[in-house]
Formats: sequence, C-alpha cells, structure tokens
Amino acid sequence: MDRETIKRLAAENGTPLLIMDHGQIRKNYQEFRERLPRVQIYYAIKANSEPEIIKTLLKLGASFDVASLSEFNLIFDLVKHLEPAGLQNFIWNNIIYANPVKKPDSLHVLNLYKPLLTYDSIEEMRKIRIHSPDAGLLLRIKISDEGSVVKLSNKFGIDPEQAVDLIEKTIREGLTVEGISFHAGSQCNKPRNFVKALRTVSEIFKEVASKGYAIGETVTKGYPIKIVDIGGGFPVKYSGDEQSFGGLADIINKEIDRLFSKDEVLLLAEPGRFLVANAGTEVASVILAKRSTDIPSYHIDDGVYHTFSALVYDHIPIKVRSIKDGEPRECRLFGPTCDGLDTLSENTYIHNTGKIFLPELDEGDLVYAENMGAYTTASSTNFNGMPPAKVVHINL
Ligand SMILES: Cc1ncc(COP(=O)(O)O)c(C=O)c1O
Repeated sequence: MDRETIKRLAAENGTPLLIMDHGQIRKNYQEFRERLPRVQIYYAIKANSEPEIIKTLLKLGASFDVASLSEFNLIFDLVKHLEPAGLQNFIWNNIIYANPVKKPDSLHVLNLYKPLLTYDSIEEMRKIRIHSPDAGLLLRIKISDEGSVVKLSNKFGIDPEQAVDLIEKTIREGLTVEGISFHAGSQCNKPRNFVKALRTVSEIFKEVASKGYAIGETVTKGYPIKIVDIGGGFPVKYSGDEQSFGGLADIINKEIDRLFSKDEVLLLAEPGRFLVANAGTEVASVILAKRSTDIPSYHIDDGVYHTFSALVYDHIPIKVRSIKDGEPRECRLFGPTCDGLDTLSENTYIHNTGKIFLPELDEGDLVYAENMGAYTTASSTNFNGMPPAKVVHINL
C-alpha cells in the first residue's frame, strides 16, 4: 500500500489502525480458486473475523470455517433473512464447525441446523451423539506439521491407525460420518505433509469400505459423497523465503487427481491466513521519542498486547517501517502498555524479534507494517485499558 494512502487513512481514523484492502482479499480468493479448482473454499474466520471481510467473501461465493458458536453467529446474522429451506441449505453447504472440541450447549443449539462438525476422539463423538445427533461428522486425523510455523498436531487429530476403529464405532452409534479432515499446521512450508496426509486419507477410505461401512452416505445432505477436508496452512510470503502457494497447489492437485475421483469425493479447504494476511497494513504513531538513551527508544501506540500479538501467538516475522524517509539507525521499539514484555525489538522472550533500524523519529510520526491481516487484531487484548486497533476497510 502506498504511503500517501496510509498517511491519509491515519489522519482520518487515528492510530493504531489496521487497513484491510478488500481488492487484495478478492485477488487472493480468485488465486486460490484458480490454483485449486477442485477445492471448495471455507474461509477460517478465526484469522480475521471482521464482518466486512465475511461479507466480501460471501459475495464471492465462499463458504466458512467457524471455531465457536459466536463465529457461527457472525455468518448466521448475514444469512438469516433467507427462507427456511434456503437457510438450511446454506448452512449444510457453506459452514463447517472445525474445532474438534466443542461446548455441549453450542452443540445443542447447532443441532437444529444439522451442522457439519469435526471431532477427533470417542469422547467428543459421544458428546456429539447426546447434543447434536443430527450433525454430519468429519474425523480429524493427526498428520505431520513439521516445517509449519504454527503447530496444531500436538493438540488435535486421532492417530491414523485408530481412525477406522473410531469411524466404525461412530457409525454404530447411529451418527453420520461424512469424511476425514486434517490440518498441516499454519504457514506450512512442507508440501510433503499434504501429500502424506492425502495418501493416509485414501487408505482410510479403502479400509472402511472393505469392512462394509459407508462413509458419506449422508442422511442430511441427501447425496452419497465422501468429504476430504484438507484444512488450512497455505503459506503467505512474509520474508520471501517461504514455500510458494502455487508450487504447493500444483503438488496437491496432482495428488488429489491421482487419489480421489470427482464423482465420489468432495474436497474442502479452510484457508485463513492465505486469504487475508497480505491484505492488512497496520499503522501506529510514535507517542514518545527518547533520544537521551544510548540508542533512540521509540514508544508507539500499538504493541505486543495488541496487533503485534502476532509475534507471540503467530510467530510470523514483522518488519516495521517508517513513513518518514531518513538514514536508518538502530533503535528500540516499545508498545504502549506498562509491561516490559511489550517490546518489539530484540525481545528475549519472543524469538522472532530482532534488531530494528528506523530513521530518526519524533512524537507523532507514523510507522507501519505490511502483511498484518491475519492473526493480529484477532488476538488483540484490552490490556491496560487500551482497545484493539481500529479496522478500516478499503476497496469494498
Ligand atoms: C481447524 C483450522 N482450520 C483452519 C485454520 C486456518 O489455518 P491457516 O490460517 O493456516 O490457513 C486453522 C488455524 O489454526 C484451524 O485450526
């Protein structure tokens, strides 16, 4: 985004500010569709749940991955005007509740809509049987997340060796198993993780069929098709060294064409980061410029408890730049709260921080960071009474 636009929007809206460019979101969506044409896109709204983003993606025909009842309601509010049959169809075809652990009362509410859910244990399956018996289920398997920046397999997924047994038990309990899901970890730099996972899913399908059980005989949706949900993890160029999305997509396409026939298998993905990260630019103001220290120290009005929480939770590299030109000099950069952890330069507690070089700054000067659209404001807090950055949407 050009500096004049950043300056104008900061003057109009104040800082801290997250600018979301919907032209870029549309481009990302289009690229995903073109590169993975067999895969239905369920935007993982945990990455950035701004209603304007959901509206833009809804207009493009996207589906949605939710992790809680309140995320479900963000979408529901936008479609509740549909007549009852249309609303039910929308929920069947366009929403997946992909958090393998759900609160019983959320399941209870959702059962009305016969939702598509993931699970990864016999205990969760039994909970679903009690509270959401009309749901369609995808069993999430554990796969390698080596080489992914954010790990998920330490917490989620059943060992593939136990998958067939749990599928049999689930069907015997009278529930509908619609397919299998996996997640290769967020910002996945190893295409091989996807390849191995797809092969594992194909083996599980074969074994279940050989035992006479049917996956995908869906009661609710009325068509016998198996679902393979390939999760999220599609990488974004932060520093330039990352796995390219195009290269990953080519490998995935080859493998899905080899393993899964179009008539029998429906493929879904849950991209979060890929659709929104490079659409977001964060802008902050210097609120104190100390030059009496050995090297200049700048305190800005956004930090580790706010938009830069991505440093802690999302582990991405963030490059802070100045709007003002000038000779870059090493400096210290701090967020606005009273905690020493709220430090953006060389923070020993946060491994992906390093030295920061900026031109000499004064109070009121602006700094900005690109690629800040995913997992930033999403994990922002109100610590010290400071609210998350305002979000402004452009090119709607
Ligand atoms: C179940 C699930 N699906 C999708 C995503 C989105 O992943 P990404 O942003 O890497 O595409 C996540 C992220 O944690 C997730 O937990």
